[in-house]
Amino acid sequence: MAKSDSEYSDEESEESSESEKLKKKKKDKKKVKKLKKDKKAKKEKKKKKKKEKKKKKEKRRKSPSYSDYSYDSRDSLSPSRSRSRGRAKNRSPPRNNGAGGGGRYGGCARSRSRSPAWAVQAPRSPVQLPEGRALTLAEACEAAGRGFTTGKTAQDDEVQVLNPDEEPIQADRFASFEDARDFPREIREELKKAGFPSPSQIQAYTWPLGLRGKDIIGIAATGSGKTLAFLLPAFAQMVEENHRPERDGPGALVMSPTRELAQQTEAEAQRFGKCLGFRCVAMYGGAPKGDQMARYRQGCHTVVACPGRLNDFLENGQVRLDGVLKLVLDEADRMLDMGFEPQIRKILAKLPRKRHTLFFTATWPKEVRKLANEILNRPYKVMIGNREVLKGNQDITQIVKVMDAFNKNREIVSTLREAGLTSQTASGKALVFCNTKRMCESLSNELYRQGLPCTSIHGDKDQRQREEALNGLKSGRFKVLIATDVAARGLDIKGVGLVINFDPANNTEDYVHRIGRTGRAGAKGFAITFMTGQDAAKARGIIEVMERTNQEISGDLLRLAGAAPPGGGKGRTRGGAPRRGKGRSPSP
Ligand SMILES: Nc1ncnc2c1ncn2[C@@H]1O[C@H](COP(=O)(O)OP(=O)(O)OP(=O)(O)O)[C@@H](O)[C@H]1O
Ligand SMILES: [Mg+2]
Repeated sequence: MAKSDSEYSDEESEESSESEKLKKKKKDKKKVKKLKKDKKAKKEKKKKKKKEKKKKKEKRRKSPSYSDYSYDSRDSLSPSRSRSRGRAKNRSPPRNNGAGGGGRYGGCARSRSRSPAWAVQAPRSPVQLPEGRALTLAEACEAAGRGFTTGKTAQDDEVQVLNPDEEPIQADRFASFEDARDFPREIREELKKAGFPSPSQIQAYTWPLGLRGKDIIGIAATGSGKTLAFLLPAFAQMVEENHRPERDGPGALVMSPTRELAQQTEAEAQRFGKCLGFRCVAMYGGAPKGDQMARYRQGCHTVVACPGRLNDFLENGQVRLDGVLKLVLDEADRMLDMGFEPQIRKILAKLPRKRHTLFFTATWPKEVRKLANEILNRPYKVMIGNREVLKGNQDITQIVKVMDAFNKNREIVSTLREAGLTSQTASGKALVFCNTKRMCESLSNELYRQGLPCTSIHGDKDQRQREEALNGLKSGRFKVLIATDVAARGLDIKGVGLVINFDPANNTEDYVHRIGRTGRAGAKGFAITFMTGQDAAKARGIIEVMERTNQEISGDLLRLAGAAPPGGGKGRTRGGAPRRGKGRSPSP
């Protein structure tokens, strides 16, 4: 049938529209292709940028190296950046204690009235560390603040390993992380990532014993890596025995004398356990029980606990310990003295008899050894350095200043000024120890009024205030933390180049632990102790500690020791801390 014009035209138009459609389709396809290409190019560009950023960051992290010091690989940010981070979180000044006007030292007091001086900070030029001579106080504080470290924990020539019969033995040793093949691969990688050059001495000798399931007494200098010495064998055992917390309860229990140390150990356990999917919960007083319990119920491999709070949970039947494979008493001598002993005994009663028990500390007084032997099962003893006597870490320069009591306040300001810590722009930090909470508070107020960036921590502060104070020092918001002995043991605060004993410690063990808050893991530090005529009985013990690391003893100090009544102040009396109430932790 012939088609009408209109039909033809219709068909034609249909045909032409079809070809147009085809063309359009082709065009569309091209467009889509182009879009896809563009998208891909954009993505690649982004990736490239990210990679470059990462490279730059890495470069910044690795530079610079000064003489035999290298930048601490754990401080990946430059000092000025890390400070500004801390500041960003804490922009407002710490507190208003009524001090107005300009401070005498640095811009701190001025900053309280308007915008804080620490809000803006010029980048710092690199410090040139001296070669061939010891660091001055100011240099040591600056270097500590910037994270300079040899990277290697303190080394002692004298290493002794005793078998359960107390006979010296030639013990196995992990010279490198590769030697620790019995650790899960993930842990070995985590150790390498941490940037540690090799196992510290206490780790090298206690890891093999821990892996073989032996009970251990590990005694080594402050800041020598004892935390990982006990955590990692516990992790390895839980992996090997396929420990499941939801079925077996926690597999490792670490006892800690203070809340802050429990929190710190929890953080270290999380850091090194994360790669294995291990969880850790810290149980300590002053914080809501509900939160700790909720985390415990999620299933945790490790519990780090202060005895008081753990006993509360045990009494209510909220925590089970029958699956514990390894029990650790960190700061073991402190945990065994009269302040904690009754609570520790209650906890021991809930633990399985078949377990490994590890004691770690930097000081091992005779008074606690008998009790330790009741708890341990044929332990091996690893002593790095002669720890039968009290000895400080050799990376610490110890100084004693003898003065009249009324000069102490003036002296502390001039010492902090000499250390370069009176200004908010300082890199380093200082810990100042007092013997009472009252002294702690009043000194902190006095220094703060003078414009020093300081705060305090002690047992009368609530948990929030304690955390604020410690975090303030860690972040660099405060340069000086005035503390009682709550901060004397175990705390590992980066950047502390100076410890001042405003009051000398009550016993020589505490002196060793207090000064050990500086000079940690390869960094150098100063410990300056103020002594008055009233402290003569403590002088002999301090002199002995100083002599063991070849410190210079001043004539003033020798004269002070000579004036002491015979037989006083050498070591500790067992139960140096008072027992407070029934089964409660002592609170300095
Ligand atoms: N093998 C290692 N090499 C270098 N640094 C290490 C090594 N192992 C641990 N560290 C680091 O050393 C620092 C001190 O470690 P840790 O707190 O365990 O010391 P400690 O011996 O328990 O001291 P204290 O007696 O004061 O409790 C930490 O910052 C830790 O990360
Ligand atoms: Mg420790």
